[in-house]
Amino acid sequence: MTFLQTNTKIWLIPFTLGVILFTVGYYVNNFIKPDYHYDSQSYYENFLAEGIKIKTLKIVNVKTKSDSRHYKINVLQHALLPGIGNCNCNCTVPNRTQKVPKILHYVYLNEDPNYLPFNFIHWLAFTSSIETIKPEKTYFHYIHEPKSYWYQLIKPKLSIMKTRIVTEIFGNPVNVIQHKSDIIRMEVLRDFGGIYLDNDIIVLQPFDDLLYNDFTMGIEDTWGQGLCDAVIISRPFAPFLTRWIQNYKDFNDHHWNYHSVQLPYQMSQEYVNDIQVLNKTAFFWPTWMDEHLDLAFNSTNYNFSNNYAYHMWSSASYGKYLKYMSPKSIKSEETSFNRAVRKFLNYLPKDFNEETFDIDGKNN
Ligand SMILES: *[C@@H]1O[C@H](CO)[C@@H](O)[C@H](O)[C@H]1NC(C)=O
Ligand SMILES: *[C@@H]1O[C@H](CO)[C@@H](O)[C@H](O)[C@H]1NC(C)=O
Ligand SMILES: *[C@@H]1O[C@H](CO)[C@@H](O)[C@H](O)[C@H]1NC(C)=O
Ligand SMILES: *[C@@H]1O[C@H](CO)[C@@H](O)[C@H](O)[C@H]1NC(C)=O
Ligand SMILES: *[C@@H]1O[C@H](CO)[C@@H](O)[C@H](O)[C@H]1NC(C)=O
Repeated sequence: MTFLQTNTKIWLIPFTLGVILFTVGYYVNNFIKPDYHYDSQSYYENFLAEGIKIKTLKIVNVKTKSDSRHYKINVLQHALLPGIGNCNCNCTVPNRTQKVPKILHYVYLNEDPNYLPFNFIHWLAFTSSIETIKPEKTYFHYIHEPKSYWYQLIKPKLSIMKTRIVTEIFGNPVNVIQHKSDIIRMEVLRDFGGIYLDNDIIVLQPFDDLLYNDFTMGIEDTWGQGLCDAVIISRPFAPFLTRWIQNYKDFNDHHWNYHSVQLPYQMSQEYVNDIQVLNKTAFFWPTWMDEHLDLAFNSTNYNFSNNYAYHMWSSASYGKYLKYMSPKSIKSEETSFNRAVRKFLNYLPKDFNEETFDIDGKNN
């Protein structure tokens, strides 16, 4: 008995000292050297100086529970960084700091090389944004580069970036192509900031006013309110965006627009200071509902002069309206939409031949 007690005490002394040293050391080490250092300002300057470089898209590699917790800590650290004091612009308002770089991002995820070609409608959309926003760069994130005539026309204005094939997020499978695109756009905006546009957005006014907030989205007002992710304006590591990505832990590929439209709206009600919400007129009005498509494409009753942009809702409007459109029809037919976009036809090549027009550009 006595022998055992003495022995236990002797053993306890170095053990306790060891535990104390380890604990103190652990905290001191963490205090002096955070496990992950990220200087957003120099990262951004690097990006401007050296051109875009997709660094580690950590979200792809998150496989295990412990990894994803680690990732969450890192992301939240980024989210606490102050806004980026970039001011390449000529800021006319004192103390207004441009936070969002004036660069455009498009995502074109044709995993199948025989997917829909890049057509006249895409050309019109890209021309409207490039000529109206006048971005420093327009990044085209693709899997298979399109070959069509309309793509060749716009390609000199693009900086092309091969992107990855998304298969999962936080371990949840992703098969729906629109959801893959949602994930790429979020990653790209998180890492580089800028203006993300769907391939069917017509830009009607410059976005210069919209670059002074961390994060901006617009209302989609149909049966209920949502924030449509077809237009997103974000600084790198905007707190709203990093939180939104975190919420993809619960992602379900079978839910059509929960994570992309409804969830950001719900979050905007909670994190009101992290997002600028523009009203429905900014980007998403008229909507994809039949009577709204009719208003835009088959009437002269809508005035687009208050829209920053207009989403053509191509999946709803293509079969009925867009596929019949041509430079000739836009010039000659009076509709609200044609009036708004006619000016962009000035960017067609001088030798463009209307008679051989093909919306897909196979014969031009
Ligand atoms: C900024 O804009 C003002 C007014 O347009 C102009 O007078 C000024 O020279 C500009 N400054 C710079 C640095 O470009
Ligand atoms: C700009 O911001 C600084 C620091 O926040 C403040 O001291 C200064 O008064 C501001 N200037 C103007 C013109 O608002
Ligand atoms: C939406 O906001 C713009 C600019 O702030 C404003 O001019 C317009 O009247 C608003 N539209 C609606 C429907 O509230
Ligand atoms: C356009 O509107 C007219 C009536 O104003 C209608 O007859 C026609 O079917 C509409 N076109 C389409 C494609 O809906
Ligand atoms: C649209 O509205 C603007 C101003 O609100 C006006 O100047 C313009 O003439 C209108 N366009 C049409 C076609 O009614």
